[in-house]
Amino acid sequence: MTDVNAIRQELSSHGQEHLLGFYDELTPQQRQTLLQQIESLDLDQLDELIETHVLNKPEVRLPEDIEPPPMVPALPKDDQSQREKDQARERGEQLIAAGKVAAFVVAGGQGTRLGYDGPKGCLEATPVAHKPLFQVFAEQILAAGRRAGVRIPWYIMTSPANDVVTRAFFRQHKYFGLEPEDVFFLVQGQMPSFDFDGKILLAEKDRLALSPNGHGGSLQAMRDSGALDDMAKRGIEYISYFQVDNPLVHCIDPVFIGLHEMRSAEMSAKAVSKRDPLEKLGNFCLIDGRVHVIEYSDLSEEMARQTTDDGRLRFRAGSIAIHLFSRSFVERLTEGGRCELPCHRAEKAVAYMDAEGNKVEPAEPNAVKLEMFVFDAMPLAKEAVILETLRDKEFSPVKNASGEDSLTTALHDQVRRAAELLEAAGVSVPRDADGKVAAALEISPLYAENIEDLKQKIDPNLEIPPGDSLYLGSRGQTGGLKGAG
Ligand code: UTP
Repeated sequence: MTDVNAIRQELSSHGQEHLLGFYDELTPQQRQTLLQQIESLDLDQLDELIETHVLNKPEVRLPEDIEPPPMVPALPKDDQSQREKDQARERGEQLIAAGKVAAFVVAGGQGTRLGYDGPKGCLEATPVAHKPLFQVFAEQILAAGRRAGVRIPWYIMTSPANDVVTRAFFRQHKYFGLEPEDVFFLVQGQMPSFDFDGKILLAEKDRLALSPNGHGGSLQAMRDSGALDDMAKRGIEYISYFQVDNPLVHCIDPVFIGLHEMRSAEMSAKAVSKRDPLEKLGNFCLIDGRVHVIEYSDLSEEMARQTTDDGRLRFRAGSIAIHLFSRSFVERLTEGGRCELPCHRAEKAVAYMDAEGNKVEPAEPNAVKLEMFVFDAMPLAKEAVILETLRDKEFSPVKNASGEDSLTTALHDQVRRAAELLEAAGVSVPRDADGKVAAALEISPLYAENIEDLKQKIDPNLEIPPGDSLYLGSRGQTGGLKGAG
C-alpha cells in the first residue's frame, strides 16, 4: 500500500510538497492516480535538472575546432562515388530482403504549432486521395516489403496523450493493409513542467502537468516497451527512423541502409543543404572526430555565414530528422537503466492549477518544459554516415497551420514530386505560364515506388487535362485518369 505520509515527506525534502495540496479533497481513485504519477518521478534527478535547466539556463559553449562533417553527396561526384552508391543500394536491398530492417516513426509530439485536434499522423495530407500521414508511411512500408518478399515491422512511438486514439485509428483502418502483428505501438515517457521557481506544475488537483519527453525519449521507450526485444526476436538489425510530419520521407531507403552497414555505422543521418545560413535546421558538425547536431540557435551567426572556396555555406548540412540506428547501438545506450541524453529547455505557456484551485490558462510562457532530442545520440556513435539528400525529394514537414512548412506547402511539394516522376516517365504534365503544375497528382507507392516502376506501368500517352486530379493507386486503382496502365 502506498504510504502517503512517506510521499509527503519525500516531496517536502525536494520542495515539491504543494503537489499534495488538494489531496484531502480527492476521491480514492483520484488519490491513486496522483500518487502513481508522483511515484514515477525521479526527484533526485529532477532536483539536478531544476538547478541546471529551470532556475538557470544551460550555457552552450562550443569548442573552437568545429569542422563541417564529411557527407556522402546526393549526386555522386565521380565514378567511384557512383559505384559506392550502387553497391549500397544492392547491399541495402539484401538487408531488407533478409528481414533485418524495421521502420520506426516518432508520433508522440503534441503538434502545438499545427493546432490539429488529434494525433498528427491522422491528418489527411495527400493531394488527391486525402490519405492520413500514417497511411502514407504504411503504404511505403507495405510496398518495400512486397518488393523484397518480406514483412517489414513498423514501430510507432506514441505518447500517453495520443496512444489510445492512435491505436484505435489503426484498428479502424485495418492497419492500412499491414498485418496487425507487424505494427508495434510503444508509448514514450513524460516529463513534468516547472514554473520558473522550479516547482512542478499541477494540471488538475489530481494530475501533474506532464508532457512527452521529446523524440530523444524514443531510445529509452524502445527498451522499456520491449520493442528492442521484439526486434531481436525478429532478427531486426537496422532501425529506419523518421518523423510523423514529413509525407515526402523515404521510409525504407536501400541506399541509406546499405551505406550505414557498409561503413559499420551505429547511427546515421540524412541531411539537406540549408536554404540560407540562418535556416532553422540543426547543423551537422564534426567535433573531436564525432558528429554532432548543433541547434541553429547555438551556432554563431559568423560561423553560420562562413563559405567555402566554391561559395557554398561551410556548415550547410541541415538535419531533417531521418536516421538509421543499429539495434546494437540503441541496446548499448539503454543498457543498465536510463539513456542519458541531455535535456533541452523550452519556455512555454502551460495551463495549470494555482494554489487556490483555480485553473489558469496563461497566454504568455509561464513554464519550463524539458525535452530530449534524438540527434544528441549522434556523438555517442562510434561511426556515423551523413547522406545528403535533395530537399524536393525528401523533406516537406507539416509543422505550422499556415505559411512555411504547412499542409499547403507539403501538398504542393507532393504534387511537384509526382509531376517530376511522371515527366521522367515520359508523361506530359500540364503546367501554367509560370511552370507550376496545373493538376493535382498523387502516386501511391503501391502503384509505383520509383521511376523504373512507373515507366513500366504508365502509358506515356496518358492525358492529364489542366485542372484535373490524377490518382495512381494500388492494382491500377485510379481517379480522374485517362489511359493509365
Ligand atoms: P516537433 O519537434 O515538430 O514537435 O516533433 P511536435 O510536438 O510534433 O510539434 P510542436 O513543436 O508542438 O508544434 C518532431 C517529431 O518528433 C515527434 C513528433 O511527433 C514529430 O514526429 N515527437 C516530438 C515525439 O514523438 N515525441 C515528443 O516528445 C516530441
